[in-house]
Amino acid sequence: MVELRSPVRPGGLPSANNLAATRRERARASALPAAFYTSPDVHALEQSQLFANSWLCIGREEDLPDAGSFLTREIGSERILAVRDRENRLRAFFNVCRHRGSRLMEADCGQGLRRITCPYHAWTYELDGSFFSAPWLDESFDKEAYPLLTVPLGSFGGFLFVNLDPDAEPLDVWLADLPDLSRYRLDSLRRGHRIEYDVAANWKLICENYSECYHCALAHPQLNRLSDSRSGGQLLSGACYNGGPMTLNKGITSLTMSGQSRNPPIPGLSAEDHRTVHYYVVYPNLLLSLHADYVLVHSVWPKGPERTHIICEWLFTGEAVAAEEFDPDDAVEFWDVTNRQDWDLCERVQRGVRSRGYVPGPYHSSEHCVHAFDCWYAGAMAPHLPA
Ligand code: FES
Ligand SMILES: [Fe+2]
Repeated sequence: MVELRSPVRPGGLPSANNLAATRRERARASALPAAFYTSPDVHALEQSQLFANSWLCIGREEDLPDAGSFLTREIGSERILAVRDRENRLRAFFNVCRHRGSRLMEADCGQGLRRITCPYHAWTYELDGSFFSAPWLDESFDKEAYPLLTVPLGSFGGFLFVNLDPDAEPLDVWLADLPDLSRYRLDSLRRGHRIEYDVAANWKLICENYSECYHCALAHPQLNRLSDSRSGGQLLSGACYNGGPMTLNKGITSLTMSGQSRNPPIPGLSAEDHRTVHYYVVYPNLLLSLHADYVLVHSVWPKGPERTHIICEWLFTGEAVAAEEFDPDDAVEFWDVTNRQDWDLCERVQRGVRSRGYVPGPYHSSEHCVHAFDCWYAGAMAPHLPA
């Protein structure tokens, strides 16, 4: 007899012990219990203990090309503001006025900002965050005491990361054990397309689904024709990531609707990289899929226990994007079709794990990356759960 549990406990958090079966070796382990996919309390704890203490990718350096460019990114209940200041330095701030706390900037992005002015009483800040002016100030007002509060910001491969923890270790320490991706010249790539998706599933289901191709033969016939779902298998993992390569079938040059690359490859890649797509989950929420002619990027943002916003971007060489005949459609359509197939599966799982008939199942031998992701998650969450 399997033991059935109420899928969502009526309040309170699951205990760290509920993660023990997931943390066993893969062959004896089982998936996460339902509460980790459905509970508002778990979602709140993830926000305060995982997302507020991790380096999170909020965009690309190309989004802030000139002094006065800015972007904002919602992280849980925050909307962080990143700007390029007059000295060309990239900065990030809590998007909060130092007077009575109004949010400062609501727009997603923009250019030509000269200063940051609060729409409530017009307190104004320089782009480096220092206080500039306010109407009718007393002589005694200490301007030095009210700069915008800084958020640690770092850059890797053209990706901008922020960390809501003011004492965060530097980004390069956080990413220290990521495999060397320098041959992909990530910082020179440029965005060719972006699609955003809202999915009615927990964010971890998105990451887990990304981490295995056990479902690919059935769910993605168009993908399986180009890259055999059994061609993966090598698990690479470290403190900040897991992933592995998959091989393109004979005669296939990229993952596109036609199976052929329409855009120039990233210069200098090896013959093996031309036959391979490398897939990585960079914890907690960045998915990198490196093809020889483009890099697919998913940023996975939890919006509630059962809702996720996904930003999907296709990066090509700068030369390809600048060319008059640039045509990303073949690659975009391929992954848009594949994405939608995946979101459909993730939503189906979400409906399943809400059932009192859900009992965490075993990991198939090809699902070692799913297990690696869940073990990382369990290790990160367990210290914050009741014993
Ligand atoms: S709250 Fe920003 S100026 Fe008053
Ligand atoms: Fe898939």
